[in-house]
Amino acid sequence: METHVVDHPLAAALLTTMRDARSSNPAFRAALRELTHMLIYEAIRDAEIEEFEVATPVAPARGVRLANPPLLVPVLRAGLGMVEQASSLIPQSQVGFVGMARDETTHEPVPYLESLPEDLSGIPVYVLDPMLATGGSMVRTIELLVERGATDVTAVCVVAAPQGVAALADSGLPIRLVVAAVDAGLNEDAYIVPGLGDAGDRQFGPR
Ligand code: PRP
Ligand code: URA
Repeated sequence: METHVVDHPLAAALLTTMRDARSSNPAFRAALRELTHMLIYEAIRDAEIEEFEVATPVAPARGVRLANPPLLVPVLRAGLGMVEQASSLIPQSQVGFVGMARDETTHEPVPYLESLPEDLSGIPVYVLDPMLATGGSMVRTIELLVERGATDVTAVCVVAAPQGVAALADSGLPIRLVVAAVDAGLNEDAYIVPGLGDAGDRQFGPR
């Protein structure tokens, strides 16, 4: 599996704001939005483009646009904080939704919402979820996408644990990972260490 860690001082500074337990919910959401901007830039770097001609005020010029705009899929709740920024960067993209909650005892993902186009064949899909911990939620989400014909899926995450990266790699699913940091590991509650806590709660408050 191709893994791209976005190693950039501005990304690291935004991630620091997100890690800091003193950051307010609005400060956390703002940093996530800005960091999403950088992650999407990297995720889309090698996307196929098509050329077309535009007229500048002076002369004809070659223009480009994305040949195949992606479907964006935020994983609720935490991925919601990434979707507005991603869709404003790629205005031609469409948006689908997956709701996935981790069972607090077993840490297994429990799907509760699937609002996606029927047929995803030939469509690149970007799954937006800040946290890749055990990897269970991301693998389950990508399975839902593959059942609908997706063959080109990019997981766009903020923080990953090595266990989550390994779970994606071992799943055999067609995935690329773009992430701002791979942390040390997981604690006994399957939270990423040092991580940033519960990304849903830190954006929206406790459930
Ligand atoms: C978080 C996070 C991921 C999942 C990661 O969601 O946003 O979806 O946990 O954990 P995993 O890799 O071990 O599956 P959570 O279930 O806490 O729901 P929320 O976004 O609604 O808070
Ligand atoms: N979900 C989160 O929001 N944070 C973690 O560290 C692990 C799962």
